[in-house]
Amino acid sequence: MTATVIDGKAFAAKVRAQVAAHVARLKEENGITPGLAVVLVGEDPASQVYVRNKGVQTHEAGMNSFEHKLSADTSEPDLLALIATLNADPAVHGILVQLPLPKHLDSDLVINSINPAKDVDGFHISNVGLLGTGQKSMVPCTPLGCLMMLRDHHGSLAGMNAVVVGRSNIVGKPMAQLLLGDSCTVTIAHSRTKDLAEVCRRADILVAAVGRPEMVPGDWVKPGATVIDVGINRIEKDGKVKLVGDVHYESAAAVAGAITPVPGGVGPMTIACLLANTLTACCRANGLAEPEGLTA
Ligand code: GUN
Repeated sequence: MTATVIDGKAFAAKVRAQVAAHVARLKEENGITPGLAVVLVGEDPASQVYVRNKGVQTHEAGMNSFEHKLSADTSEPDLLALIATLNADPAVHGILVQLPLPKHLDSDLVINSINPAKDVDGFHISNVGLLGTGQKSMVPCTPLGCLMMLRDHHGSLAGMNAVVVGRSNIVGKPMAQLLLGDSCTVTIAHSRTKDLAEVCRRADILVAAVGRPEMVPGDWVKPGATVIDVGINRIEKDGKVKLVGDVHYESAAAVAGAITPVPGGVGPMTIACLLANTLTACCRANGLAEPEGLTA
């Protein structure tokens, strides 16, 4: 079998267009422009690229983008004071603090100081609790993007065996909650799981989010399964730097029914979902109907 390639780049463009159309209506009918504030502390080059991309795409969707770039030695009280200002600003509907933060800052404390209604990353403990109890919340962007692609490909996910490899707070755990919410039978596996290959072979839906290049080979994939590869790893191959996922693409694509490539799979969906979450937060803040198909 040769797998159907799930084109995350094209899907993300569709999501961004949907967001932009809704934003245009909000402006015209309600005089409201959604606003996203992104806070970057320090000069981490990868984070700078992400933040720049977020700013560009926020503008392209017709939203306001507020960038706050702080020096690496910013004190915790100063950062918390900025977040308090953004929490109180009615023009700001979404707040994202780029992670990782410099070591002297307590990430949990900082994230939990964001107004949960503006927490477009879905990392605040209130949103984690709401998601875990099946209540309306802000949902982390990467797992939300994966869920959208899975729903688009399969329609209903009910009754499917889903295996999530990886237990991070950003991807693995919320991904498992979302799949459970869509009535999958969910297993969370990780690097210490016994017989990991065997566990993966049971999956109708296999989500790899471990951050280890090409860790999942094709013979861990059940024939016909849908493989979602969240990994983005830079490796050197034949003297060149190459982006690879957590799945060994060629061998997995020979067995799977559908697979997301790296690059061009899950990656582009993350920022698209950040824009969707900002729009959702703006609609909720103003008591307006939420965009359809853009939330969990
Ligand atoms: N750093 C890498 N990915 C993310 C993300 O999704 N959100 C935030 N805030 N920081 C990140």
